[in-house]
Amino acid sequence: MSLEPLLEMQGISKTFNGLRVLKNVGLKVYPGEIHALMGENGAGKSTLMKILSGAYQADPGAEIRVAGEPVASFDPATAKTFGIAVIYQELSLCPNLSVAENIYLGRELRRGWTIDRKGMEAGCVEVLQRLGAEFTAPRGSAACRLPSASWWKSPAPCMPTPRSW
Ligand SMILES: Nc1ncnc2c1ncn2[C@@H]1O[C@H](COP(=O)(O)OP(=O)(O)OP(=O)(O)O)[C@@H](O)[C@H]1O
Ligand SMILES: [Mg+2]
Repeated sequence: MSLEPLLEMQGISKTFNGLRVLKNVGLKVYPGEIHALMGENGAGKSTLMKILSGAYQADPGAEIRVAGEPVASFDPATAKTFGIAVIYQELSLCPNLSVAENIYLGRELRRGWTIDRKGMEAGCVEVLQRLGAEFTAPRGSAACRLPSASWWKSPAPCMPTPRSW
């Protein structure tokens, strides 16, 4: 096993409206590790994950390294190229999109100039089977109208872009 952390966050602070909610936080993740980030309500867990996924920018002085390489600017597109994906506790479906479109949001399959909807529906079936779902996603149905709506967001990080080492 590599001795180098896959992910290293150092000196992470975050201030909202003058209130510092993260103070010099650090996190190291080595290959194959699973971590649980625990803390009371408002401790800053989601804020730290939003910084990691590029949704928020940390205060100046933060350092994030992926596989030893410093990443100067951590935005959502950059995070995605590193295979970083977040399943938020709050349901965040796009109600007008189908299940497949929600799962592929931000990484839509393309065929030429158009969206490859059939390809996405096939990929959706594959990932649901892989995750052991006992149901299928009806083609083209808006995700929010389905009884298992809260489920649909969780397969998203299992799609090809995210990596685990
Ligand atoms: N966008 C924001 N603007 C202002 N304050 C924020 C914002 N996001 C989070 N906060 C504040 O930052 C602090 C940390 O919030 P955060 O959501 O990261 O905590 P948490 O550990 O995820 O809590 P929970 O267990 O409730 O999910 C809280 O005081 C919260 O009110
Ligand atoms: Mg939270």
